[in-house]
Amino acid sequence: MRVAVIGSGYVGLVSAACFAEIGHDVISVDNDCAKIAALERGEVPIHERFLPELLSRHRGGRLRFSTSVKEAVSNSEAVFITVGTPQSETGEADLSFVDAVAREIASAVDGSIASAAHGSKVIIEKSTVPVSTCDSLRQTLLLSGAHHGSFSVASNPEFLREGTAVTDFLYPDRIVIGVDDELSSSVLRAIYQPLTSGSYYGEEGPIPSGSYAHKQAPMIVTNAKSAELIKHASNAFLAMKISFINAVASIAESVGADIGQVCAGVGSDSRIGPKFLNAGIGYGGSCFPKDMQAFHVVASQCNYDFGLLTEVMRINAEQRLRFLKKVKSALWTLRGKRLAVLGLAFKGDTDDVRESPAIAITQALLREGVQVQVYDPAAMPKAKEVLPSKDVVYAEDPYEAAANCDALLILTEWKEFSNLDLRRIRLLLKHPIVIDGRNLYARDRMTSAGLIYYSVGRAVGVPEPMSPIARHGDVGLQLPLPTVTRPAVAG
Ligand code: UGA
Repeated sequence: MRVAVIGSGYVGLVSAACFAEIGHDVISVDNDCAKIAALERGEVPIHERFLPELLSRHRGGRLRFSTSVKEAVSNSEAVFITVGTPQSETGEADLSFVDAVAREIASAVDGSIASAAHGSKVIIEKSTVPVSTCDSLRQTLLLSGAHHGSFSVASNPEFLREGTAVTDFLYPDRIVIGVDDELSSSVLRAIYQPLTSGSYYGEEGPIPSGSYAHKQAPMIVTNAKSAELIKHASNAFLAMKISFINAVASIAESVGADIGQVCAGVGSDSRIGPKFLNAGIGYGGSCFPKDMQAFHVVASQCNYDFGLLTEVMRINAEQRLRFLKKVKSALWTLRGKRLAVLGLAFKGDTDDVRESPAIAITQALLREGVQVQVYDPAAMPKAKEVLPSKDVVYAEDPYEAAANCDALLILTEWKEFSNLDLRRIRLLLKHPIVIDGRNLYARDRMTSAGLIYYSVGRAVGVPEPMSPIARHGDVGLQLPLPTVTRPAVAG
Protein backbone atom coordinates (compact mmCIF):
# COMPACT_ATOMS: atom_id res chain seq x y z
CA MET A 1 0.00 0.00 0.00
CA ARG A 2 1.15 3.61 -0.55
CA VAL A 3 1.46 5.33 2.77
CA ALA A 4 2.32 8.91 3.73
CA VAL A 5 3.54 9.73 7.24
CA ILE A 6 3.33 13.46 8.01
CA GLY A 7 5.78 14.48 10.73
CA SER A 8 9.22 12.87 11.11
CA GLY A 9 9.75 13.02 14.86
CA TYR A 10 10.21 9.93 17.05
CA VAL A 11 6.81 8.44 16.26
CA GLY A 12 6.69 9.49 12.60
CA LEU A 13 10.15 8.35 11.65
CA VAL A 14 9.92 5.02 13.46
CA SER A 15 6.46 4.39 12.00
CA ALA A 16 7.60 5.29 8.47
CA ALA A 17 10.63 2.99 8.70
CA CYS A 18 8.51 0.15 10.13
CA PHE A 19 5.74 0.54 7.53
CA ALA A 20 8.46 0.22 4.86
CA GLU A 21 9.87 -2.78 6.72
CA ILE A 22 6.53 -4.60 6.56
CA GLY A 23 6.26 -4.01 2.84
CA HIS A 24 4.61 -0.66 2.15
CA ASP A 25 5.77 2.20 -0.08
CA VAL A 26 6.23 5.09 2.30
CA ILE A 27 6.81 8.82 2.00
CA SER A 28 8.00 10.38 5.24
CA VAL A 29 7.30 14.12 5.36
CA ASP A 30 8.56 16.95 7.52
CA ASN A 31 8.55 20.72 7.05
CA ASP A 32 12.08 20.89 8.47
CA CYS A 33 14.13 20.96 5.24
CA ALA A 34 17.42 20.40 7.07
CA LYS A 35 16.03 17.27 8.76
CA ILE A 36 14.74 15.85 5.47
CA ALA A 37 18.06 16.61 3.73
CA ALA A 38 19.93 14.87 6.56
CA LEU A 39 17.63 11.83 6.34
CA GLU A 40 18.19 11.69 2.60
CA ARG A 41 21.95 11.76 3.18
CA GLY A 42 21.61 8.78 5.49
CA GLU A 43 21.88 10.56 8.82
CA VAL A 44 19.69 9.38 11.71
CA PRO A 45 18.49 12.31 13.83
CA ILE A 46 17.51 10.32 16.93
CA HIS A 47 19.10 7.67 19.11
CA GLU A 48 16.76 4.75 18.58
CA ARG A 49 17.79 1.12 18.56
CA PHE A 50 17.44 -0.62 15.15
CA LEU A 51 16.27 2.57 13.42
CA PRO A 52 19.59 3.09 11.57
CA GLU A 53 19.37 -0.49 10.25
CA LEU A 54 15.80 -0.02 9.00
CA LEU A 55 16.51 3.37 7.42
CA SER A 56 19.57 2.12 5.57
CA ARG A 57 17.66 -0.97 4.46
CA HIS A 58 14.73 0.96 2.95
CA ARG A 59 16.00 4.46 2.15
CA GLY A 60 15.72 5.18 -1.56
CA GLY A 61 13.66 1.99 -2.02
CA ARG A 62 10.36 1.61 -0.20
CA LEU A 63 11.09 4.67 1.94
CA ARG A 64 11.36 8.18 0.52
CA PHE A 65 11.52 11.58 2.19
CA SER A 66 9.82 14.81 1.22
CA THR A 67 8.99 18.27 2.52
CA SER A 68 5.76 18.39 0.51
CA VAL A 69 2.54 17.29 2.22
CA LYS A 70 0.73 17.77 -1.05
CA GLU A 71 3.04 15.47 -3.00
CA ALA A 72 2.94 12.80 -0.29
CA VAL A 73 -0.85 12.89 0.07
CA SER A 74 -1.41 12.88 -3.69
CA ASN A 75 0.64 9.71 -4.01
CA SER A 76 -0.82 7.79 -1.09
CA GLU A 77 -3.91 5.83 -0.13
CA ALA A 78 -3.35 6.18 3.61
CA VAL A 79 -2.04 9.30 5.36
CA PHE A 80 -0.81 9.08 8.95
CA ILE A 81 -0.56 12.30 10.96
CA THR A 82 2.34 12.09 13.43
CA VAL A 83 3.06 15.74 14.20
CA GLY A 84 3.68 17.03 17.73
CA THR A 85 0.85 17.80 20.14
CA PRO A 86 2.74 19.81 22.78
CA GLN A 87 1.29 21.01 26.05
CA SER A 88 -0.30 24.42 25.91
CA GLU A 89 -0.23 26.94 28.76
CA THR A 90 -3.55 25.66 30.06
CA GLY A 91 -2.31 22.05 30.16
CA GLU A 92 -4.42 20.90 27.24
CA ALA A 93 -2.87 19.48 24.07
CA ASP A 94 -1.99 22.15 21.52
CA LEU A 95 -3.46 20.78 18.31
CA SER A 96 -2.34 23.61 16.04
CA PHE A 97 0.16 21.41 14.16
CA VAL A 98 -2.53 18.80 13.53
CA ASP A 99 -4.86 21.56 12.34
CA ALA A 100 -2.22 23.03 9.99
CA VAL A 101 -1.43 19.63 8.50
CA ALA A 102 -5.15 18.86 8.07
CA ARG A 103 -5.57 22.04 6.01
CA GLU A 104 -2.67 21.05 3.77
CA ILE A 105 -4.01 17.52 3.39
CA ALA A 106 -7.44 18.88 2.44
CA SER A 107 -6.02 20.63 -0.60
CA ALA A 108 -4.54 17.34 -1.83
CA VAL A 109 -7.17 14.69 -1.14
CA ASP A 110 -9.29 15.20 -4.25
CA GLY A 111 -8.24 14.11 -7.68
CA SER A 112 -5.25 11.97 -6.76
CA ILE A 113 -4.39 8.33 -6.12
CA ALA A 114 -6.88 6.80 -3.75
CA SER A 115 -8.06 3.43 -2.60
CA ALA A 116 -8.94 1.55 -5.76
CA ALA A 117 -12.10 0.11 -4.26
CA HIS A 118 -13.57 3.29 -2.85
CA GLY A 119 -11.85 6.18 -4.57
CA SER A 120 -11.06 7.97 -1.34
CA LYS A 121 -8.16 8.25 1.11
CA VAL A 122 -7.92 7.38 4.75
CA ILE A 123 -6.48 10.07 7.03
CA ILE A 124 -5.24 8.46 10.24
CA GLU A 125 -4.49 10.31 13.46
CA LYS A 126 -1.49 8.70 15.18
CA SER A 127 -0.27 11.61 17.33
CA THR A 128 -1.45 11.50 20.94
CA VAL A 129 -4.60 13.60 20.95
CA PRO A 130 -7.63 14.19 23.16
CA VAL A 131 -10.75 12.13 22.58
CA SER A 132 -12.94 13.51 19.75
CA THR A 133 -10.00 14.84 17.73
CA CYS A 134 -11.06 12.66 14.77
CA ASP A 135 -14.37 14.56 14.71
CA SER A 136 -12.53 17.90 14.63
CA LEU A 137 -10.16 16.58 12.00
CA ARG A 138 -13.05 15.50 9.78
CA GLN A 139 -14.67 18.90 10.21
CA THR A 140 -11.46 20.77 9.41
CA LEU A 141 -10.86 18.72 6.27
CA LEU A 142 -14.38 19.52 5.04
CA LEU A 143 -14.12 23.21 5.90
CA SER A 144 -10.76 23.37 4.12
CA GLY A 145 -12.17 22.13 0.83
CA ALA A 146 -11.99 18.32 0.94
CA HIS A 147 -15.17 16.83 -0.51
CA HIS A 148 -17.48 14.45 1.29
CA GLY A 149 -16.66 10.95 0.14
CA SER A 150 -13.08 11.81 -0.83
CA PHE A 151 -11.69 10.79 2.56
CA SER A 152 -12.26 8.87 5.78
CA VAL A 153 -10.79 9.63 9.18
CA ALA A 154 -9.50 7.07 11.70
CA SER A 155 -7.48 6.80 14.87
CA ASN A 156 -4.49 4.51 15.31
CA PRO A 157 -2.76 5.37 18.59
CA GLU A 158 0.85 4.41 19.07
CA PHE A 159 2.35 2.62 22.06
CA LEU A 160 6.01 3.11 21.22
CA ARG A 161 8.48 3.64 24.02
CA GLU A 162 11.55 5.65 23.17
CA GLY A 163 14.54 3.33 23.08
CA THR A 164 12.47 0.29 22.12
CA ALA A 165 10.17 1.96 19.62
CA VAL A 166 11.13 -0.23 16.64
CA THR A 167 10.53 -3.52 18.43
CA ASP A 168 7.39 -2.09 20.09
CA PHE A 169 6.10 -1.38 16.57
CA LEU A 170 7.04 -4.68 14.97
CA TYR A 171 6.24 -6.91 17.96
CA PRO A 172 3.35 -5.06 19.61
CA ASP A 173 1.28 -6.16 22.62
CA ARG A 174 -1.66 -4.93 20.56
CA ILE A 175 -2.50 -2.76 17.57
CA VAL A 176 -5.49 -0.51 18.17
CA ILE A 177 -7.46 0.84 15.24
CA GLY A 178 -10.33 3.24 15.84
CA VAL A 179 -12.56 3.17 12.78
CA ASP A 180 -16.01 4.57 12.08
CA ASP A 181 -16.46 3.25 8.53
CA GLU A 182 -15.69 0.29 6.31
CA LEU A 183 -13.00 2.01 4.25
CA SER A 184 -10.89 2.95 7.28
CA SER A 185 -11.30 -0.52 8.67
CA SER A 186 -10.23 -2.32 5.50
CA VAL A 187 -7.28 0.02 4.78
CA LEU A 188 -5.89 -0.19 8.32
CA ARG A 189 -6.37 -3.95 8.48
CA ALA A 190 -4.48 -4.26 5.17
CA ILE A 191 -1.64 -2.03 6.39
CA TYR A 192 -1.06 -4.12 9.51
CA GLN A 193 -1.82 -7.45 7.84
CA PRO A 194 1.86 -8.56 7.72
CA LEU A 195 1.90 -8.31 11.54
CA THR A 196 -1.62 -9.55 12.31
CA SER A 197 -1.35 -12.52 9.94
CA GLY A 198 2.14 -13.29 11.18
CA SER A 199 3.63 -13.32 7.67
CA TYR A 200 6.28 -10.77 8.71
CA TYR A 201 7.48 -12.99 11.54
CA GLY A 202 8.36 -15.75 9.10
CA GLU A 203 10.81 -13.48 7.24
CA GLU A 204 14.53 -13.07 7.85
CA GLY A 205 14.75 -9.44 8.89
CA PRO A 206 17.44 -7.21 10.37
CA ILE A 207 15.63 -6.96 13.68
CA PRO A 208 16.42 -9.82 16.04
CA SER A 209 13.23 -11.54 17.04
CA GLY A 210 14.92 -13.78 19.62
CA SER A 211 13.09 -12.54 22.69
CA TYR A 212 9.80 -11.95 20.87
CA ALA A 213 7.76 -15.08 20.50
CA HIS A 214 5.27 -13.43 18.17
CA LYS A 215 3.24 -15.48 15.79
CA GLN A 216 0.52 -12.93 15.12
CA ALA A 217 0.13 -9.41 16.51
CA PRO A 218 -3.27 -8.95 18.19
CA MET A 219 -5.49 -6.22 16.76
CA ILE A 220 -8.21 -4.42 18.70
CA VAL A 221 -10.84 -2.74 16.57
CA THR A 222 -12.88 0.03 18.19
CA ASN A 223 -14.62 3.20 17.16
CA ALA A 224 -12.43 6.31 16.80
CA LYS A 225 -13.38 7.85 20.14
CA SER A 226 -12.61 4.67 22.07
CA ALA A 227 -9.21 4.38 20.38
CA GLU A 228 -8.38 7.98 21.30
CA LEU A 229 -9.38 7.31 24.87
CA ILE A 230 -7.36 4.07 25.01
CA LYS A 231 -4.19 6.07 24.36
CA HIS A 232 -4.66 8.63 27.13
CA ALA A 233 -5.97 6.03 29.56
CA SER A 234 -3.00 3.72 28.90
CA ASN A 235 -0.40 6.42 29.53
CA ALA A 236 -2.28 7.66 32.60
CA PHE A 237 -2.49 4.14 34.01
CA LEU A 238 1.25 3.56 33.54
CA ALA A 239 2.05 6.91 35.18
CA MET A 240 -0.30 5.96 38.02
CA LYS A 241 1.56 2.68 38.53
CA ILE A 242 4.84 4.57 38.84
CA SER A 243 3.47 7.13 41.30
CA PHE A 244 1.75 4.42 43.29
CA ILE A 245 4.95 2.48 43.78
CA ASN A 246 6.87 5.67 44.55
CA ALA A 247 4.34 6.44 47.29
CA VAL A 248 4.73 2.92 48.68
CA ALA A 249 8.52 3.35 48.46
CA SER A 250 8.32 6.36 50.78
CA ILE A 251 6.52 4.24 53.35
CA ALA A 252 8.94 1.34 52.85
CA GLU A 253 11.88 3.66 53.42
CA SER A 254 10.44 5.08 56.56
CA VAL A 255 9.62 1.71 58.20
CA GLY A 256 12.69 -0.20 57.02
CA ALA A 257 10.96 -2.39 54.41
CA ASP A 258 12.58 -2.97 51.01
CA ILE A 259 10.65 -1.69 47.99
CA GLY A 260 12.34 -4.27 45.72
CA GLN A 261 10.94 -7.08 47.85
CA VAL A 262 7.56 -5.34 48.06
CA CYS A 263 7.42 -5.04 44.24
CA ALA A 264 8.36 -8.68 43.78
CA GLY A 265 5.46 -9.63 46.03
CA VAL A 266 2.95 -7.19 44.58
CA GLY A 267 3.96 -7.61 40.93
CA SER A 268 3.78 -11.39 40.96
CA ASP A 269 -0.01 -11.13 41.19
CA SER A 270 -0.93 -11.62 37.54
CA ARG A 271 -3.71 -9.05 37.92
CA ILE A 272 -1.09 -6.42 38.76
CA GLY A 273 2.05 -7.50 36.89
CA PRO A 274 5.68 -6.58 37.61
CA LYS A 275 6.22 -3.93 34.92
CA PHE A 276 6.30 -0.19 35.63
CA LEU A 277 6.76 -0.82 39.33
CA ASN A 278 10.31 0.52 39.54
CA ALA A 279 10.52 3.15 42.24
CA GLY A 280 12.83 6.07 41.57
CA ILE A 281 12.90 9.79 40.93
CA GLY A 282 9.62 9.73 39.02
CA TYR A 283 8.56 9.68 35.40
CA GLY A 284 9.59 12.23 32.78
CA GLY A 285 9.82 12.46 29.01
CA SER A 286 7.80 14.04 26.28
CA CYS A 287 4.74 11.85 26.86
CA PHE A 288 3.62 11.08 30.42
CA PRO A 289 3.89 14.61 31.92
CA LYS A 290 2.13 16.22 28.96
CA ASP A 291 -0.47 13.48 28.53
CA MET A 292 -1.39 13.51 32.21
CA GLN A 293 -2.09 17.23 32.03
CA ALA A 294 -4.00 16.88 28.77
CA PHE A 295 -6.10 13.98 30.04
CA HIS A 296 -6.93 15.95 33.16
CA VAL A 297 -8.21 18.80 30.98
CA VAL A 298 -10.25 16.35 28.89
CA ALA A 299 -11.86 15.03 32.08
CA SER A 300 -12.66 18.58 33.27
CA GLN A 301 -14.24 19.36 29.91
CA CYS A 302 -16.44 16.30 30.48
CA ASN A 303 -17.34 17.75 33.91
CA TYR A 304 -15.45 14.98 35.65
CA ASP A 305 -13.04 15.89 38.42
CA PHE A 306 -10.28 13.31 37.85
CA GLY A 307 -8.54 13.99 41.16
CA LEU A 308 -6.62 10.72 40.87
CA LEU A 309 -4.60 12.20 38.01
CA THR A 310 -3.81 15.31 40.05
CA GLU A 311 -2.48 13.12 42.84
CA VAL A 312 -0.37 11.04 40.43
CA MET A 313 1.23 14.27 39.16
CA ARG A 314 1.73 15.59 42.70
CA ILE A 315 3.48 12.41 43.85
CA ASN A 316 5.67 12.53 40.76
CA ALA A 317 6.77 16.11 41.43
CA GLU A 318 7.37 15.33 45.11
CA GLN A 319 9.62 12.40 44.21
CA ARG A 320 12.32 14.75 42.88
CA LEU A 321 12.13 16.90 45.99
CA ARG A 322 12.43 13.84 48.22
CA PHE A 323 15.53 12.81 46.30
CA LEU A 324 17.07 16.27 46.70
CA LYS A 325 16.36 16.08 50.44
CA LYS A 326 18.14 12.74 50.51
CA VAL A 327 21.20 14.25 48.82
CA LYS A 328 21.19 17.03 51.41
CA SER A 329 20.84 14.64 54.32
CA ALA A 330 23.70 12.49 52.98
CA LEU A 331 26.04 15.46 52.53
CA TRP A 332 24.82 17.74 55.33
CA THR A 333 25.40 20.92 53.31
CA LEU A 334 25.48 21.37 49.55
CA ARG A 335 27.07 24.74 48.76
CA GLY A 336 30.58 24.26 47.39
CA LYS A 337 30.33 20.47 47.20
CA ARG A 338 31.23 18.66 43.99
CA LEU A 339 28.86 15.93 42.82
CA ALA A 340 29.02 13.40 40.00
CA VAL A 341 25.77 12.91 38.10
CA LEU A 342 25.38 9.75 36.03
CA GLY A 343 22.51 10.07 33.58
CA LEU A 344 20.76 13.04 32.00
CA ALA A 345 18.25 11.35 29.66
CA PHE A 346 14.70 10.98 30.98
CA LYS A 347 15.27 7.21 30.96
CA GLY A 348 17.85 4.74 29.67
CA ASP A 349 18.41 3.90 25.98
CA THR A 350 17.50 7.33 24.69
CA ASP A 351 19.20 10.68 24.10
CA ASP A 352 15.97 12.53 24.92
CA VAL A 353 16.18 15.01 27.81
CA ARG A 354 12.69 16.49 27.53
CA GLU A 355 11.08 16.75 30.98
CA SER A 356 13.95 14.68 32.33
CA PRO A 357 13.92 14.33 36.13
CA ALA A 358 17.73 14.03 35.90
CA ILE A 359 18.01 17.47 34.30
CA ALA A 360 15.58 19.02 36.82
CA ILE A 361 17.56 17.58 39.75
CA THR A 362 20.89 18.72 38.27
CA GLN A 363 19.51 22.23 37.79
CA ALA A 364 18.26 22.29 41.38
CA LEU A 365 21.72 21.23 42.61
CA LEU A 366 23.34 24.02 40.58
CA ARG A 367 20.95 26.52 42.19
CA GLU A 368 22.16 25.24 45.58
CA GLY A 369 25.74 26.14 44.66
CA VAL A 370 26.92 22.59 43.89
CA GLN A 371 29.62 21.92 41.29
CA VAL A 372 28.46 19.13 39.00
CA GLN A 373 30.36 16.67 36.81
CA VAL A 374 28.01 14.79 34.49
CA TYR A 375 28.10 11.82 32.19
CA ASP A 376 25.44 10.24 29.98
CA PRO A 377 26.16 7.68 27.24
CA ALA A 378 23.90 9.39 24.66
CA ALA A 379 22.16 12.49 25.95
CA MET A 380 25.05 14.92 26.49
CA PRO A 381 24.75 16.72 23.12
CA LYS A 382 21.05 17.42 23.74
CA ALA A 383 21.63 18.18 27.42
CA LYS A 384 24.06 20.96 26.50
CA GLU A 385 21.10 23.00 25.23
CA VAL A 386 19.64 23.13 28.76
CA LEU A 387 22.77 22.60 30.86
CA PRO A 388 25.47 24.70 29.18
CA SER A 389 29.11 23.61 29.46
CA LYS A 390 29.91 26.74 31.46
CA ASP A 391 27.67 25.43 34.28
CA VAL A 392 28.65 21.75 34.45
CA VAL A 393 31.66 19.62 33.53
CA TYR A 394 30.86 17.06 30.84
CA ALA A 395 32.93 13.92 31.47
CA GLU A 396 34.06 11.25 29.01
CA ASP A 397 32.89 8.34 31.16
CA PRO A 398 31.42 7.58 34.61
CA TYR A 399 34.87 7.40 36.21
CA GLU A 400 35.97 10.81 34.97
CA ALA A 401 32.67 12.16 36.31
CA ALA A 402 33.29 10.56 39.73
CA ALA A 403 36.84 11.86 40.14
CA ASN A 404 37.24 14.01 43.27
CA CYS A 405 33.52 14.25 43.96
CA ASP A 406 31.86 14.31 47.36
CA ALA A 407 29.24 11.80 46.16
CA LEU A 408 28.00 10.04 43.06
CA LEU A 409 24.35 10.34 41.97
CA ILE A 410 22.67 7.90 39.58
CA LEU A 411 19.73 9.59 37.86
CA THR A 412 19.01 7.54 34.69
CA GLU A 413 18.49 3.78 34.42
CA TRP A 414 21.18 3.15 31.76
CA LYS A 415 22.26 -0.47 31.75
CA GLU A 416 25.93 0.50 31.77
CA PHE A 417 25.44 2.29 35.12
CA SER A 418 24.32 -0.96 36.74
CA ASN A 419 27.69 -2.54 36.16
CA LEU A 420 30.26 0.01 37.29
CA ASP A 421 33.64 -0.94 38.70
CA LEU A 422 32.61 0.00 42.22
CA ARG A 423 36.03 -0.32 43.80
CA ARG A 424 37.39 2.10 41.21
CA ILE A 425 34.48 4.46 41.90
CA ARG A 426 35.24 4.29 45.62
CA LEU A 427 38.86 5.20 45.07
CA LEU A 428 37.95 8.07 42.77
CA LEU A 429 35.36 9.63 45.05
CA LYS A 430 36.47 12.02 47.75
CA HIS A 431 33.77 10.56 50.02
CA PRO A 432 32.42 7.02 49.45
CA ILE A 433 28.79 7.99 48.97
CA VAL A 434 26.46 6.82 46.18
CA ILE A 435 22.90 8.13 45.97
CA ASP A 436 20.97 6.05 43.48
CA GLY A 437 17.70 7.50 42.17
CA ARG A 438 16.99 4.39 40.08
CA ASN A 439 17.74 1.50 42.47
CA LEU A 440 20.22 -0.06 40.06
CA TYR A 441 22.19 -1.93 42.72
CA ALA A 442 21.71 -4.48 45.46
CA ARG A 443 22.78 -2.79 48.69
CA ASP A 444 25.26 -5.57 49.50
CA ARG A 445 27.14 -5.01 46.28
CA MET A 446 27.68 -1.35 47.12
CA THR A 447 28.53 -1.83 50.76
CA SER A 448 30.98 -4.64 50.09
CA ALA A 449 32.81 -2.20 47.79
CA GLY A 450 33.06 0.15 50.76
CA LEU A 451 30.39 2.57 49.60
CA ILE A 452 27.60 4.12 51.64
CA TYR A 453 24.56 3.50 49.49
CA TYR A 454 21.35 5.54 49.46
CA SER A 455 18.54 4.42 47.18
CA VAL A 456 14.75 4.82 46.95
CA GLY A 457 12.43 2.87 49.24
CA ARG A 458 15.24 0.94 50.91
CA ALA A 459 17.31 1.43 54.04
CA VAL A 460 20.70 3.06 53.68
CA GLY A 461 23.50 0.58 53.00
CA VAL A 462 26.47 1.12 55.29
CA PRO A 463 29.76 -0.75 54.81
CA GLU A 464 31.06 -2.81 57.72
CA PRO A 465 32.93 -1.87 59.78
CA MET A 466 31.69 1.70 59.67
CA SER A 467 32.61 4.26 62.27
CA PRO A 468 31.91 7.99 62.52
CA ILE A 469 35.24 8.40 60.76
CA ALA A 470 34.94 6.64 57.40
CA ARG A 471 38.28 5.52 56.02
CA HIS A 472 39.05 6.30 52.41
CA GLY A 473 42.46 5.10 51.30
CA ASP A 474 44.94 6.46 53.81
CA VAL A 475 43.01 9.58 54.58
CA GLY A 476 40.49 9.78 57.36
CA LEU A 477 37.52 11.83 56.20
CA GLN A 478 34.87 13.35 58.44
CA LEU A 479 31.57 12.10 57.14
CA PRO A 480 28.13 12.61 58.52
CA LEU A 481 26.76 9.16 59.31
CA PRO A 482 23.70 8.34 57.25
CA THR A 483 20.46 9.21 58.95
CA VAL A 484 18.76 5.87 59.35
CA THR A 485 15.12 6.19 60.23
CA ARG A 486 13.19 3.91 62.58
CA PRO A 487 13.59 1.01 62.93
CA ALA A 488 17.37 1.29 62.63
CA VAL A 489 18.46 -0.93 59.77
CA ALA A 490 22.05 -1.25 58.71
CA GLY A 491 23.18 -2.58 55.36
C1 UGA B 1 5.54 6.12 27.05
C2 UGA B 1 4.72 4.83 27.01
O1 UGA B 1 5.39 3.81 27.74
C3 UGA B 1 4.47 4.37 25.57
O2 UGA B 1 3.62 3.24 25.56
C4 UGA B 1 3.81 5.51 24.81
O3 UGA B 1 3.58 5.16 23.45
C5 UGA B 1 4.71 6.74 24.86
O4 UGA B 1 4.90 7.12 26.24
C6 UGA B 1 4.00 7.86 24.12
O5 UGA B 1 2.94 8.28 24.55
O6 UGA B 1 4.45 8.21 23.02
P1 UGA B 1 8.15 6.70 26.90
O7 UGA B 1 7.76 8.09 27.28
O8 UGA B 1 9.09 6.50 25.78
O9 UGA B 1 6.84 5.82 26.54
O10 UGA B 1 8.85 6.06 28.17
P2 UGA B 1 8.51 4.98 29.29
O11 UGA B 1 9.35 3.80 29.07
O12 UGA B 1 7.06 4.77 29.42
O13 UGA B 1 9.06 5.74 30.59
C7 UGA B 1 8.49 6.99 30.99
C8 UGA B 1 9.12 7.48 32.28
O14 UGA B 1 8.74 6.65 33.37
C9 UGA B 1 10.65 7.48 32.28
O15 UGA B 1 11.11 8.68 32.87
C10 UGA B 1 11.03 6.28 33.12
O16 UGA B 1 12.28 6.43 33.76
C11 UGA B 1 9.89 6.26 34.13
N1 UGA B 1 9.63 4.94 34.72
C12 UGA B 1 9.21 3.91 33.94
C13 UGA B 1 9.76 4.75 36.10
O17 UGA B 1 10.13 5.69 36.83
N2 UGA B 1 9.48 3.54 36.63
C14 UGA B 1 9.07 2.48 35.87
O18 UGA B 1 8.81 1.39 36.43
C15 UGA B 1 8.94 2.67 34.50
